[in-house]
Amino acid sequence: MGFGLAVLGSAIGLGNIWRFPYVMGEHGGAAFLLVYLLVVLIMGLPLLLGEFAAGYHTHADGVGAYEKITPERPWRWAGWLGVAAAVVILMYYPVVTAWVAQYLWLALTGDMSVPAGAAQDARFVALTHDGFAVLLAQAIVLCVATGIVAAGVVSGIERTCKVLMPLFAVLLVGLAIYGLSLPGAQQGVDFMFQADWSAVLRPETWLVALGQALFTVGIGMGVMVTYGAYLPDSHALPRIGFAVIAGDTFVGLLACLIIFPAVFSLGLAPAQGPGLAFVILPEVFERMPGGNVAAVAFFLLLLIAALASMVSLLEVPIAVLMSRRGWRRVPAALLTGSVALLVSVPVALGEGTAWLQLDGMPTLLDLADRFASYVLLPLSALAIALVVGWRWQEKAACDAAGVQGIRARRLWWTSVRWLVPVLLVIVLVSGLVTA
Ligand code: TRP
Repeated sequence: MGFGLAVLGSAIGLGNIWRFPYVMGEHGGAAFLLVYLLVVLIMGLPLLLGEFAAGYHTHADGVGAYEKITPERPWRWAGWLGVAAAVVILMYYPVVTAWVAQYLWLALTGDMSVPAGAAQDARFVALTHDGFAVLLAQAIVLCVATGIVAAGVVSGIERTCKVLMPLFAVLLVGLAIYGLSLPGAQQGVDFMFQADWSAVLRPETWLVALGQALFTVGIGMGVMVTYGAYLPDSHALPRIGFAVIAGDTFVGLLACLIIFPAVFSLGLAPAQGPGLAFVILPEVFERMPGGNVAAVAFFLLLLIAALASMVSLLEVPIAVLMSRRGWRRVPAALLTGSVALLVSVPVALGEGTAWLQLDGMPTLLDLADRFASYVLLPLSALAIALVVGWRWQEKAACDAAGVQGIRARRLWWTSVRWLVPVLLVIVLVSGLVTA
């Protein structure tokens, strides 16, 4: 239970509340949801178990685990892809976390209210374009996260998460119920549950769903390897893996149930991109009775969730520096935190500074996010499937993954060995070519 909640605490973050609704809004609503559910179950679950198993068996970090399973040279890249993905995600995760901190500040100072629907939009633009304020918030947020990892109290933050995450879930359910009671909410529900089948046929939808699944569960960065190494006994892993995926998906769905009814109720478009949650949520809080208190609670819990995920991400390069280069924790944390701050500066400024934005081009944040989610993470997932399925023995792998029963073992093994890599190649290649 504690293990499951800790993994869930790192899985739940901006991926659920910020990313899930906007990619769903951009890629066909219900059709995207259906594709996402298929992808996360058919590919996400076997991969998550593969990562757990590699960690459980080798007791090593994300890079070391794959090396122990297969020492040959080219396979070393498997782990490094995950480290690269973590570093690229660290270019923009602190920026979005900074936005959350800024909205928390607005809520705390009682400055949430703006008159009309369009004004929230303007405020989001103004807020994210104020490079100095974003940088300041981002520096604070990164210092806190770096401080937590430097002090080695990662387990402390996880214990905190165990208490706060259920609280967050309750708040989300409450907000979703409120969202559904808004006039015009039905259209939002229709949008989430009535599929536009043409989107299912677009390869791009599948690649986006895959990227979202890997991002939100936290697969492909070697973090789940590290978690697997902590478990004394593997037999509960399949159940825990399933529960984590279900819980994480549930939180993403709740976020959508809060946001989409409000989008339609306000007569706005669901495909607004990365600003969606930040434009819609303040509007929801503004309309509800006691909204300011709810806003403070919401942004505070989201900030904590984002910080916990950021801590996990920082831990990836830190673990590598410590175990491969013999660094001590504090210098490793300081270096990683400083690099994350440095590389996220252009992304923060890129939201608002014209010289970083060419006409018609996605912002730097968008570019980094797409490169990490649609290239690095799928490649890293492919590497995991190949190492586990082709460089390891069936019995050892199934034992380490805790899969029991002949049929379940066959199912998981054929999945990691054949189904997942084949699907990954198809989705990755067709998605990248058509997009
Ligand atoms: N899953 C987290 C979220 O949804 C972010 C994240 C990405 C993460 N990769 C991770 C968390 C690896 C922990 C480990 O926001």
